[in-house]
Amino acid sequence: VIQPVVLCGGSGTRLWPLSRADRPKPFLPLLGERTLFQQTLDRLDDRDLFAEPLIVAGEKQVALVGRQAGQYSLIVEPAARNTAPAIALAAARVEPDTILLVCPSDHHIADRQAFHEAVQKAQSLARDGKLVCFGIEPDRPETGYGYIEKGGPVGEGHHVARFVEKPDEATAQAYLESGRFTWNSGMFVFRAGTFLDELSRHWPEMAEAVRQAVENGREDGAQFHPEGSAFARIAGESVDYALMENTSHAAVVSADIGWSDIGDWNSLMTAREAAGLDLLADGTRTINAGGIMTVGEDRRISVVGLDNVIVVVDGDDVLVLSRDAAQAVKNLATDKSK
Ligand code: GDD
Ligand code: MG
Repeated sequence: VIQPVVLCGGSGTRLWPLSRADRPKPFLPLLGERTLFQQTLDRLDDRDLFAEPLIVAGEKQVALVGRQAGQYSLIVEPAARNTAPAIALAAARVEPDTILLVCPSDHHIADRQAFHEAVQKAQSLARDGKLVCFGIEPDRPETGYGYIEKGGPVGEGHHVARFVEKPDEATAQAYLESGRFTWNSGMFVFRAGTFLDELSRHWPEMAEAVRQAVENGREDGAQFHPEGSAFARIAGESVDYALMENTSHAAVVSADIGWSDIGDWNSLMTAREAAGLDLLADGTRTINAGGIMTVGEDRRISVVGLDNVIVVVDGDDVLVLSRDAAQAVKNLATDKSK
């Protein structure tokens, strides 16, 4: 079986005011009744395919994880160091031959069956020493994602000729037009040992600090606490920049799985539309208004004579947003607004 590793330490500032420091995006019920984090666990609940997920989260998220998931094995980070160390901590806690499936908890995957099939293709490549990512067909020059250029065939996938994390707009546009690139989904499959070997090759200090933090860490029931002073030496970096851009052992499996990243209000609205969910909060009134989404149950929201607008009411905060400016919301999530 595959060992899932669920990452849920990010902040999700582009979904302010709903997503805040004390209740970040993965822990919100954005698409239906279950939160994105719970939906991530739901897709991994087939115990013939997957072992019980190992969750990596920050101290601040421990209570949320407990409330939303119950008793799971948990690695608790004293501070956020981004995804490379988070994954390395998990890899160092299992046997080197364990096949890990790394899952972010801020995604929507519409086709669960296709997801399971893609993971199985990735699994056999991972056994052969590949770091496997999943390729999503791009439909716009998104600059918030990684881009993967396919090389020659290997197993049921392809070698990665080039991996470029978050290119600028012109580069993303050129990649899109070339037809040779897919988006990186942010999920990965590999042997724990392969990951740690590659990390030692490309980021030896990080690999060594993680090794020490795990070796001298402390178990407390289902929770594992890496040792503090070794952890403090770990530099923050994402797995994409730290490893995927540098390794020569990457492979990609194409994944037509109904994937979307719930990155901002606009993509949430698109995902809600696709899932057939109601776009208007209870009580919302609209006159001569199209392409509207409203969020916030405790106020009555009215929208008149506007198109393609999203309105979010949360406590004392009101956000009125043009759909095509959704990326800029992250600039609002300042200290004061948390
Ligand atoms: N435990 C832990 N600790 N989790 C973290 C941390 C951390 O320090 N930082 C981020 N995470 C979690 C986030 O909650 C999220 O579920 C996941 O790791 C990915 O991190 P993001 O910060 O959301 O990454 P991204 O969206 O900028 O980019 C990644 O995903 C894209 C697709 O959504 C990359 O892999 C891109 O290449 C990819 O296209
Ligand atoms: Mg993300």
